[in-house]
Amino acid sequence: METRSVRSYRLRGSRITRSQASALERFWPLYGIEIPEGKLDLPGLFPNSEKIIMEIGFGMGEATALIGRDFPNDGFLAVEVHFPGVGKLMARIEELGLKNIRIMETDVHPLFEEHLEDLSLDGIHLFFPDPWQKKKHNKRRIINPEFLALIAPKIKTGGFIHIATDWVPYAEVIEEVFASSAVFEGGVVDRPEWRPLTRFEGQGITKDHQVTDLRYRKIN
Ligand SMILES: C[S@@+](CC[C@H](N)C(=O)[O-])C[C@H]1O[C@@H](n2cnc3c(N)ncnc32)[C@H](O)[C@@H]1O
Repeated sequence: METRSVRSYRLRGSRITRSQASALERFWPLYGIEIPEGKLDLPGLFPNSEKIIMEIGFGMGEATALIGRDFPNDGFLAVEVHFPGVGKLMARIEELGLKNIRIMETDVHPLFEEHLEDLSLDGIHLFFPDPWQKKKHNKRRIINPEFLALIAPKIKTGGFIHIATDWVPYAEVIEEVFASSAVFEGGVVDRPEWRPLTRFEGQGITKDHQVTDLRYRKIN
C-alpha cells in the first residue's frame, strides 16, 4: 500500500525527498552550474554583480537565500558537496525570486585546484564548517594551512573570508592558522547583522558552543 509518508529517492548517491527531486528537475537548469572542463567563467555567470562571493558548504541554504535577497547587487556561487540541500536552496531561490545565486554540487577542493581563475572572488562565506570535534578527526577540518594556500590566489587583494563557527576550540585553531599566514589579516569580529541565524545558532548555546565570527582580509 502506498503510504503518505515522505518517500525518499536516491540520486547521485544521495537520498532526497520527492519534493527535492521535483525542485531539482525544474530548477537545476536555471540555477545549477556543472563543473566545467576548464575554468569557470564567473563574470559571465554574474554579469551584473558588483561582487562575486562564494559560499562554501551552504547546507540547506537558509543563510544563502536570505543573504542573496538582502544583497541583490552581489552574485553568490553556493557550493555544497552534500546533495540534499541543493533542491531545498533552489526552491527557496524560486520562492524569493532571486537572480543572483548559482549552485554547484561539488567538493570545493577540486574547484579551487582546477576550475577557478586567480583573483576571481571578492569574498568567501564559510558558515559553520564541520567542527570535527574528536581529536582523531581534527585533521578533517577544512581550515588548515594548505586550505589557506589553496584559496588565497583566488581571492582578489582586499577581498575577504568570513567564517562563523559554534565550536570554540575550532575558532581558536582558525585564529592560529590565519595568524601564521602573511596573506591574510583580521580576526574575531562581532556577529554581523547581515548574517542570518541558521539552525546551528538556534541550538542551545553552551560554553563550547558559543558562536564566533571571524573575518580576514587578503592583504597581498
Ligand atoms: C555543519 S554544516 C553547515 C551548513 C550551513 N553552512 C549552515 O550554516 O547551516 C557544514 C556543511 O559543509 C559541507 N561541506 C563540508 N566539506 C565541504 C567541501 N569540501 N566542499 C563543499 N561543502 C562541504 C557539508 O556537506 C555540510 O553541509
